[in-house]
Amino acid sequence: MHLLSFVGLITLASLCCLGAARDKSEFDFILLTREWPFSFCSVTSCKHKELLQKRFNIHGLWAESKDSPSKPPMFCNSTAFNESELGPLRDELQKSWMDLLNPKGSPLYFWREEFKKHGSCVATDPRFNTTFLYFKAALQLNQKYNLSEMLQKGGVTPSSTPIDASKIRSALQSAFGFKPMVRCAKTNGQTFLYELRLCFAKDLSPNDCNEEPQPARPFTVWGVLEKTAAQLHQMLFGWSTPGSVWLPRRSNGTYECGDGELVLLPDAAQR
Ligand SMILES: *[C@@H]1O[C@H](CO)[C@@H](O)[C@H](O)[C@H]1NC(C)=O
Ligand SMILES: *[C@@H]1O[C@H](CO)[C@@H](O)[C@H](O)[C@H]1NC(C)=O
Ligand SMILES: *[C@@H]1O[C@H](CO)[C@@H](O)[C@H](O)[C@H]1NC(C)=O
Ligand SMILES: *[C@@H]1O[C@H](CO)[C@@H](O)[C@H](O)[C@H]1NC(C)=O
Ligand SMILES: *[C@@H]1O[C@H](CO)[C@@H](O)[C@H](O)[C@H]1NC(C)=O
Repeated sequence: MHLLSFVGLITLASLCCLGAARDKSEFDFILLTREWPFSFCSVTSCKHKELLQKRFNIHGLWAESKDSPSKPPMFCNSTAFNESELGPLRDELQKSWMDLLNPKGSPLYFWREEFKKHGSCVATDPRFNTTFLYFKAALQLNQKYNLSEMLQKGGVTPSSTPIDASKIRSALQSAFGFKPMVRCAKTNGQTFLYELRLCFAKDLSPNDCNEEPQPARPFTVWGVLEKTAAQLHQMLFGWSTPGSVWLPRRSNGTYECGDGELVLLPDAAQR
């Protein structure tokens, strides 16, 4: 072996291991992801579709790692979810961070799950280290970067006619000034604009989403099952809502919409 390639190998080896030594709860940027209710409920089955609003709904505020985009930090256990801190934010949360699967049910389980999975990682940064600070940041970003307004500026409005995904991407990119993510989901041969993601530095200034587009990967959503076993609910969550239990359900997953792909941004519930 040549001396040079030997040195190269050592350098590669130390690069690898320095990278791996990173704390698994460290993150580089924050991602706000919001879903379009009529797309979400076309891909997943929702109850009370008559209550859905024509506004993007917060799905979550996530900690993202630029080194391993497919493996963002999750479940960092840094801060416990404290429901009482939500008091002053509750009205806005009810409106902007709904549980689309069942708009009549309590969204608390959804907020709690998002906080445990993602919030406890974002909360490793002192700027977001309480339940209140995390949810406040999400609501502020949601209001400041109004997706409906940004899309409208670029000539994109909900309708029953499919739109070229690249038009959506460029409308958002020019209003926001940075690279967004435009996520699609398919069902019954139709493609929906499922959710839109914007990225921010830890000081909440706009940033490029530098995630590599991921292929669709099936994932689990929490779906409502009627006629329940209150005990099962109690067992799973330690609290119960009369009359319903939440159980995982498979979904086909979302993927970065392709340029030229025709996607639906429906203005009403399908079916
Ligand atoms: C948080 O706790 C869970 C369960 O105890 C554990 O599996 C996980 O690795 C912890 N997360 C971190 C970042 O330490
Ligand atoms: C939860 O938040 C409330 C209101 O801010 C506070 O009084 C209480 O001590 C907190 N509970 C825990 C376990 O931190
Ligand atoms: C959050 O961060 C602030 C500022 O660093 C610190 O003073 C405070 O003790 C932290 N709070 C918690 C709950 O860790
Ligand atoms: C976004 O703008 C629309 C239209 O101006 C408005 O109806 C909606 O309430 C705004 N959304 C938020 C979260 O501020
Ligand atoms: C997943 O995709 C298959 C094949 O396209 C489709 O038949 C099915 O309805 C989809 N499932 C959901 C939950 O959308």
